[in-house]
Amino acid sequence: MKPIVKETEISKLFQFTDKVTIITGAGGLGEVLALGFAQAGAKIILMDVIASKCAETVKALADAGFNAEYILTDVTNPESVNAAVEQVVEKYGRIDILLHTAGVTRNKPCLDFTKDDIDFILGVNLNGTIYMNQAVGRVMKQQCDGKILDIGSIGGLLSHMDQSMPYEASKAAVHQLVRSFANEMAPYHVNVNSIAPFWINTPMIAHQPKEYFDRVFALTAFGRCLEPEELLGAALFLTSDAANFVTGQVLAVDGGYSTIKTMHSLE
Ligand SMILES: NC(=O)c1ccc[n+]([C@@H]2O[C@H](COP(=O)([O-])OP(=O)(O)OC[C@H]3O[C@@H](n4cnc5c(N)ncnc54)[C@H](O)[C@@H]3O)[C@@H](O)[C@H]2O)c1
Repeated sequence: MKPIVKETEISKLFQFTDKVTIITGAGGLGEVLALGFAQAGAKIILMDVIASKCAETVKALADAGFNAEYILTDVTNPESVNAAVEQVVEKYGRIDILLHTAGVTRNKPCLDFTKDDIDFILGVNLNGTIYMNQAVGRVMKQQCDGKILDIGSIGGLLSHMDQSMPYEASKAAVHQLVRSFANEMAPYHVNVNSIAPFWINTPMIAHQPKEYFDRVFALTAFGRCLEPEELLGAALFLTSDAANFVTGQVLAVDGGYSTIKTMHSLE
């Protein structure tokens, strides 16, 4: 049988060499994605509000033999976001990929969340996603090309986390805003997608009680947590030319948690 695509064309679909890639959130998942995309050949620009997280990730990349730079950025502040994005365009002339991972949470019963808690969580997770998508989207619209990937959560598809009402609401909003951006950006060949991960083994989950995790991990088909490295493949796919006809999607990377009833849960 004749191959549908030549081998050389397949590797072109997954070409990341010199792609100018902004990664918001330098700690946790951001660090792992930065390493993976650098390994694939991308130019990495980290944006985070905490300088030490940026410096640690830049060092981790340097130790692995890759260059990266960072711009201190507060995603809740459109002026900070716009200035950071302008700086990237001034230096590189374009932006190929946005991986927006910056996110926060606080945990309390629904009735106890204060205005400060709600403003903090929605400010980063919802407003921050909008500001980043807008700033990068303007550049991508101009260049008529680009890939945006926002990190949502299984908590935005299901209410499965204890005491996380504003977080889950913010992530549901991320999934929805991705569809709106995707719709308006499609004429400019800009794809906008989201990943909804299950619990990821990062500092964000360090404070959660072990008993909770023992129960909830058993509800995935694999009976375990998601390692951050396991999101890399989905992120590379959704920001590659292989995904040129994929937009407005929320890809659950959750070990089947949201869709299948597993034998583990019956044990
Ligand atoms: N860890 C999980 O189990 C899990 C599960 C599903 C989805 N997620 C999502 O994945 C993404 C990454 O999470 P993580 O586990 O790596 O978290 P993390 O706490 O390890 O890292 C989040 C990063 O965002 C940065 N950040 C926070 N506020 C910011 C701001 N105002 N401006 C710029 N940067 C800011 C932090 O400094 C930090 O480096 C988040 O959006 C999170 O909601 C995490």
